[in-house]
Amino acid sequence: MKTFHTIAELRAALKHDRLQDKRIAFVPTMGNLHDGHMELVRRARQEGDIVVASIFVNPMQFSANEDLERYPRTLSEDQALLEHNTCDYLFAPSALEMYPDGKRSQTQIEVTGLSDILCGASRPGHFVGVATVVTKLFNIVMPDCAIFGNKDYQQLKVIEDMARDLSSNVEIIGVNIARSESGLALSSRNGYLSEQERAQAPMIYQTLIWAKQQLLEGRASYSDICEQAQQKLEAEGFKRDYFEIRAQHNLLPPSEKETQLVILVAAYLGKARLIDNVTVELS
Ligand code: PAJ
Repeated sequence: MKTFHTIAELRAALKHDRLQDKRIAFVPTMGNLHDGHMELVRRARQEGDIVVASIFVNPMQFSANEDLERYPRTLSEDQALLEHNTCDYLFAPSALEMYPDGKRSQTQIEVTGLSDILCGASRPGHFVGVATVVTKLFNIVMPDCAIFGNKDYQQLKVIEDMARDLSSNVEIIGVNIARSESGLALSSRNGYLSEQERAQAPMIYQTLIWAKQQLLEGRASYSDICEQAQQKLEAEGFKRDYFEIRAQHNLLPPSEKETQLVILVAAYLGKARLIDNVTVELS
């Protein structure tokens, strides 16, 4: 695997591959890679002749009080994992390479509406930072397809809508959530958990499964299910952010007729803010 730190070097390598009509599959990440990321790389391997991963802890998607400085940076371990999963190119730019004028770009991409709800309500500006950096990465890599995880369900929706709205040529592919045996969704932020919190964390997924069961049984109202789920999590030591039942297609509160639902949760456990979701198909 070749690692590139500059846009010019990566572009030069990719130009050569594109001339040979190679299909390019791209996996954007912020590093500290785990098996969830590797699922995306394995999918990219199936989709493309050339697999490109990026590692960039994007300052623009963190607000001032968030974990930008302490976000784990583990480049050599990440390189070994990517190499093992037969990634071809890693793009690992500096912040200056991506934002020559500082920590953000003057031009911003906003998927309006969708960016302000759920995680966007708790993290103002976050999805503008995500959509802007993903646009920049797409312009740099010019992939045929890009792979994202369902773990960040709202992020995937933001990127799908952005790609559609901007007539992007990049096919957006979603991959299922990779979980540990306990059910906990793999995440770089799990590293912030103490041993005791790690034992509590799987409760997030258990509560989602409980709520899904309630939905399928169809006896309780959506708001009652969500409130009870929040109370269950609080009883286990979590602090609330949100627990919501939404329509899969636009993440808005669903009408009674809606059958394609997704249950989304964000909750704080110690220093970590954990997110997870499950989809539900009502008959
Ligand atoms: P990061 O959190 O590193 O995640 C990179 C990709 O891995 C995302 O598409 C995310 O959904 C996926 N992923 C993470 N954990 C996963 C799991 N347990 N199962 C399946 N997929 C998982 O998301 C970002 O970085 C950034 O916002 C980025 C898109 C790179 C823009 O900066």
